Amino acid sequence: MSDQTPVEKPWSGRFNEPTDAFVEAFTASIDFDKRLYRYDIEGSIAHATMLAKQDILTQTESETIIQGLIKIRQRIEEGQFSWSVALEDVHMNIESALTADIGDAGKKLHTGRSRNDQVATDVRLYLRDEITIISDEILRLQHALLDLAEREFDTIMPGFTHLQTAQPITFGHHMMAWFEMLTRDRDRLADCACRLNVLPLGAAALAGTTFPIDRHYTAELLGFDRPSENSLDSVSDRDFVIEFSAAASILMMHLSRFSEELIIWSSAQFSFIELSDSFCTGSSIMPQKKNPDVPELVRGKTGRIFGHLMGLLTLMKGQPLAYNKDNQEDKEPLFDTVDNLKGSLKVFADMMPAVTCNHQKMRQATMQGFATATDLADYLVRKGIPFRDAHEVVGKAVALCIEKGSDLSDLALSELQAFSSAIGDDVFEVLTLEGSVAARNHIGGTAPEQVKQAIARGRASLD
Ligand code: ARG
Repeated sequence: MSDQTPVEKPWSGRFNEPTDAFVEAFTASIDFDKRLYRYDIEGSIAHATMLAKQDILTQTESETIIQGLIKIRQRIEEGQFSWSVALEDVHMNIESALTADIGDAGKKLHTGRSRNDQVATDVRLYLRDEITIISDEILRLQHALLDLAEREFDTIMPGFTHLQTAQPITFGHHMMAWFEMLTRDRDRLADCACRLNVLPLGAAALAGTTFPIDRHYTAELLGFDRPSENSLDSVSDRDFVIEFSAAASILMMHLSRFSEELIIWSSAQFSFIELSDSFCTGSSIMPQKKNPDVPELVRGKTGRIFGHLMGLLTLMKGQPLAYNKDNQEDKEPLFDTVDNLKGSLKVFADMMPAVTCNHQKMRQATMQGFATATDLADYLVRKGIPFRDAHEVVGKAVALCIEKGSDLSDLALSELQAFSSAIGDDVFEVLTLEGSVAARNHIGGTAPEQVKQAIARGRASLD
């Protein structure tokens, strides 16, 4: 909790009356932006270092400031720092504590900067780190998928379109589809990290500063690629937060689809997979239940991540240049997105290695839906029949099977030949599930051979 004892505000000079108590709490961001403390201090240390290099501060002043900041960081990390709502935000809390600790030198830290370029810098530093952590979690999940795909590279299951059995595929191929989506998600985040890695500090309030600062040097100290080009743009736009939020939304959309499949597959009706007990929960009333709460919750969380994207876009859309207090509202949705994204990825990366496949159930389901009908049509095409006619022939054979309650492979050769004289006894090879998947033997196809190669390429891409 923040303490609320009266404190003098760093901007109190032109004010005659104290801030209304409710307004103070209403405008404060300390309860949520204190999580930026490390980046705020890192930015301040770089700023003080640059100010000394440029002779704007003396070496002694700069060193005193830096040592003071390091001590404050330590106090925060040990839980010994008291945050004050009256000091509004993380920036003023730290600066006030610094001045209280080291005296007048502390008051010089803010030379040539403003909270406007300071907060833009903090958020970029924060997000850069979080993107690294998130990308590592995606990688962990991708490794789990590769392992699972390898284990089940030739496991037959029905592939669906419209959630109706379409063609036989392998479970390994299905895992590798998710792997591909996650690779693009990582690319999108890397792209976002690349674009955000530009230093706003030096833009000051909006127009730059009269001091002879060296922004290239500060950029270098903080690991930014370069200083930003335009001071107005630097303090005002949060497009990098929105871009992250969009990439996060796409990623959550993928995890949500992924969740949906796990939920369907683990149902009694499908029983394709079993989730480990440690990732499921029971029902307080129905003793038999084992619920897939983890994927359900991830699917549910996707809603709020999409909501944050819409919130951030709307936050930005009406703002004139340059900084407006509206921008303080970027943090809660951003932090919530980061927290829930990391949580969802972690739980998936932990859960997937323990997924087991019910081979028999998957095979049975594949047998039930005339999954090799396309193979029969392709067979007829190879015998010289135009595809559209072949399609018609197979459709009729399927209708007969439905009537008889059998599968295509159960029909006698004579029954099949009644539909087309082009059918020979070699037809049964193409009607087997193994034959069907093995035949799709080209890059991107479901043949187990191809799945193995896709896994090898996938592994190489992660190295
Ligand atoms: N807490 C503020 C934010 O998050 C910091 C910048 C405040 N700047 C200002 N001029 N009031 O945006």
